[in-house]
Amino acid sequence: MERTFLMVKPDGVQRNLIGEIVGRFEKKGFQLVGSKLMQITPELAAEHYGEHKERPFFGELVEFITSGPVFAMVWEGENVISVGRLMTGATNPKESAPGTIRGDFAVTVGKNIIHGSDSADSAVREIGLFFKEEELVSYTKDANNWIN
Ligand code: PPS
Repeated sequence: MERTFLMVKPDGVQRNLIGEIVGRFEKKGFQLVGSKLMQITPELAAEHYGEHKERPFFGELVEFITSGPVFAMVWEGENVISVGRLMTGATNPKESAPGTIRGDFAVTVGKNIIHGSDSADSAVREIGLFFKEEELVSYTKDANNWIN
């Protein structure tokens, strides 16, 4: 089953959007297999965003992502990488459609609420950067066990 890495950025945590975002992915039908609130170090930020290190906004990006706690998550499901990107919306909130997370909650490109892996390779790399194997839990859901 496909997995992706999603992260509520410091602006999303400060604005109390963790529950909203988790709820959207749960209701869509994806399964949470790992999550944690954490403070990213400058070293981890530089590694995570390594492919952007030559871009003019790199310093700003690292400063922003380390400015407060983030909520890191691993989600599992059919096509979760591409569908997760659709649910997240375009990088620049002025182009992200209403109904997407950025379209509904973000205004500025630098502060766009959520990060999501953009390919299968990035997902594997990012999950490995943020989570140990033992922090991820694979399980089967059986609602009938819980509603009597
Ligand atoms: S993408 O999704 O990778 O194609 O987007 P890209 O435009 O290449 O941007 C890469 C990440 O950098 C963030 N970004 C910025 N941060 C601060 N200031 C400016 N101007 C800026 N432009 C882009 C953007 O949100 C992407 O972060 P993630 O976490 O990958 O979404």
